[in-house]
Amino acid sequence: MAVFCKSMAGGLLLTLSLTLLRWGVEGQRNTRGKKEVSGGATIYLGQDRDIWRPLIHITVNLSEVSSIKSSFDLRTFDPEGIVFYGDTKNGEDWFILSLKDGLPLMQISRGDSRVSVAGGPKLNDGKWHTLEVSNQDPFVILEVDGSNKMVVGMQSKETVNVLSGELRLALGGILINKEKMIVQFEPHMDGCVRRGSWLNLSVPWEVEAEELWPCYQNVQPGSYFPGTGLAIFNTSVFPMEADRGVKTELWGDFNKMDGTIFSIKAPGQKLMFALVANNNTKEITLTFGEEKICMKDTFKRLVITFQTNLLKVLQDEDESKTTTLPISPGSQPGYSTTWRAGRLAVGGLLGEEEDNVGSQFLTGCLEKIQVQGKDLDLDLAVKHMSISSHSCPA
Ligand SMILES: *[C@@H]1O[C@H](CO)[C@@H](O)[C@H](O)[C@H]1NC(C)=O
Ligand SMILES: *[C@@H]1O[C@H](CO)[C@@H](O)[C@H](O)[C@H]1NC(C)=O
Ligand SMILES: *[C@@H]1O[C@H](CO)[C@@H](O)[C@H](O)[C@H]1NC(C)=O
Ligand SMILES: *[C@@H]1O[C@H](CO)[C@@H](O)[C@H](O)[C@H]1NC(C)=O
Repeated sequence: MAVFCKSMAGGLLLTLSLTLLRWGVEGQRNTRGKKEVSGGATIYLGQDRDIWRPLIHITVNLSEVSSIKSSFDLRTFDPEGIVFYGDTKNGEDWFILSLKDGLPLMQISRGDSRVSVAGGPKLNDGKWHTLEVSNQDPFVILEVDGSNKMVVGMQSKETVNVLSGELRLALGGILINKEKMIVQFEPHMDGCVRRGSWLNLSVPWEVEAEELWPCYQNVQPGSYFPGTGLAIFNTSVFPMEADRGVKTELWGDFNKMDGTIFSIKAPGQKLMFALVANNNTKEITLTFGEEKICMKDTFKRLVITFQTNLLKVLQDEDESKTTTLPISPGSQPGYSTTWRAGRLAVGGLLGEEEDNVGSQFLTGCLEKIQVQGKDLDLDLAVKHMSISSHSCPA
């Protein structure tokens, strides 16, 4: 059922001010002109940067270290990413704590031995968890929320550690070549660390960025688009069987969105598909080739299926709210042609140029996106730094 669409033009984009939603992090500058921050500050680990590079780090003489314990709180919905790194002997001996599949993963190298251990509870539930790492030779112990201990024993042929030289700690990145790790993982972590107590050190940490992005006070699962950029996937990464079609599902509060939710286009071709929310008219417009349909934005879930000769749109799993658009043969290349070579953008409209500059960016939270039944992980997209992949402000 095609409905007349009200004009889409003239919608004034009200962008939410990030500074109002997020906690600020204060910083001062040290003698090398780098900003400094307390080890106990609240740090957003998802800040855009060279992906393995720490956000903040500290170097101290081992002789100044009196404690064997570090503890901090971590909050994330992200199942995978780097949390913290420590080393001695200029990176010869090292320790890495990350998440993988939501579980804490420790990787340790000491002398001639390397180990990796994963386990404990899943931590990516969006709640604050207290983690404590301590080193009681020859054991490294990770404790989550005061229990759930993971103990790793390591004996090295080398003689007992000499307590001299420097110790380096880093948050949100590592200081060694990633090839040295036993378990590889995707480092980007959309999460927050707070209340860090690092070996009882009181010296400030050095900040690698010009400005530290603050953390949202409260978060809910989803991907948040502040209206400044989009995330692009090659559609070829999604499996497709031409005769069965391609299914895309979106969950969210559609009446709180404004801008392009997603679009599909192949280079050199016209835009194949766009789904756009208009916060003024409270309508969602779906454009498919020359066809256009409008929907009231009252649903919470949308299932869009591309098939050889039709496009099917289902609202809230309610079969009575199904819209089908027949595809007239010859009016455009089949969707499967576009899908093989195209781009799928979330949060913006793919442009005419080959370099796919986007526009009409989305403001809002997509609680979940699935393509072919699989959750879409925006960490795997080429995306604008303003988008948070695994959390929305609540
Ligand atoms: C460690 O100590 C050495 C000399 O004992 C000193 O030169 C160096 O600056 C110190 N490093 C740090 C990070 O304090
Ligand atoms: C931690 O440092 C404070 C002073 O900075 C000191 O009073 C306290 O005893 C230290 N705790 C440990 C466990 O070393
Ligand atoms: C898409 O594929 C091209 C090569 O065909 C590659 O250069 C580009 O980085 C890929 N983009 C994404 C988002 O994976
Ligand atoms: C939608 O419009 C309302 C009322 O004009 C406004 O308060 C809200 O911030 C807008 N939301 C977005 C995502 O633009």
